[in-house]
Amino acid sequence: MRILAIGDIIGKPGRKALREFLPELKEEIAYDVVIANVENVAGGFGLTKKVYEELIDIGIDVMTSGNHIWDKKEIHQFIEETENLLRPANYPEGVPGRGYGIFKKNGVKFAVINLMGRVFMDCNLENPFKVFDRIYEEVSKDTNLVIVDFHAEATSEKWAFGIYVDGRASLVYGTHTHVPTADEFILRKGTGYVSDVGMTGVWYSAIGMKPKEPIEKFLTGLPRRFEVEDKGEIVLNAILVDLDEATGKTKSIERIKRFL
Ligand SMILES: [Fe+2]
Ligand SMILES: [Fe+2]
Repeated sequence: MRILAIGDIIGKPGRKALREFLPELKEEIAYDVVIANVENVAGGFGLTKKVYEELIDIGIDVMTSGNHIWDKKEIHQFIEETENLLRPANYPEGVPGRGYGIFKKNGVKFAVINLMGRVFMDCNLENPFKVFDRIYEEVSKDTNLVIVDFHAEATSEKWAFGIYVDGRASLVYGTHTHVPTADEFILRKGTGYVSDVGMTGVWYSAIGMKPKEPIEKFLTGLPRRFEVEDKGEIVLNAILVDLDEATGKTKSIERIKRFL
């Protein structure tokens, strides 16, 4: 099964890049499944119902997310009704939405698990390593294709997690920093790994935002309202991963970078 995994999509420019590139990539590389992180997709902060429907229309099969998924109030109303949307699985019990699921495409079943790291993250979360163990035990009864979006800040936590799940998860890729890392590997026991896929949005920006306000914030220490950078060249960052359906291991992993 060929997976195209896209990291954090930033606002309208990010959506524009998907509309533009997905048909082209589908033609060129014939991927089976697209997974994308949608925590910044509506105006840079969160997800609305309208944008959720737009992403389904664009052809995203499974949406993962992270800390920003709660930024638009309406998410609380519709997250329970969505079929393709995940939020980190290690939020405490009672938080709306779900953190993992088993999906099916072209007759092949695969599991996607969304987890969030705890290092430098301002969240009251359960231990993502232990939550993985719990979920893995359940989903591995149904499929040996297990994909994890590990939404986290620290590369040390991401690498430790990758090695912890090596041979169990088929693929672990990081999101949240918006910056792609050049450490894509197939780990010793067959898990595909990269610390961060990177964002899809305007590249000459403060990780997708107009730089003026973040710079002011860094200069003064005062809070500022950030806005999505909508002018300039857009970059699409993704990974293309071939999973072996018989063994559940990664056969190949490569980074993709396109400009619009
Ligand atoms: Fe993000
Ligand atoms: Fe995030």
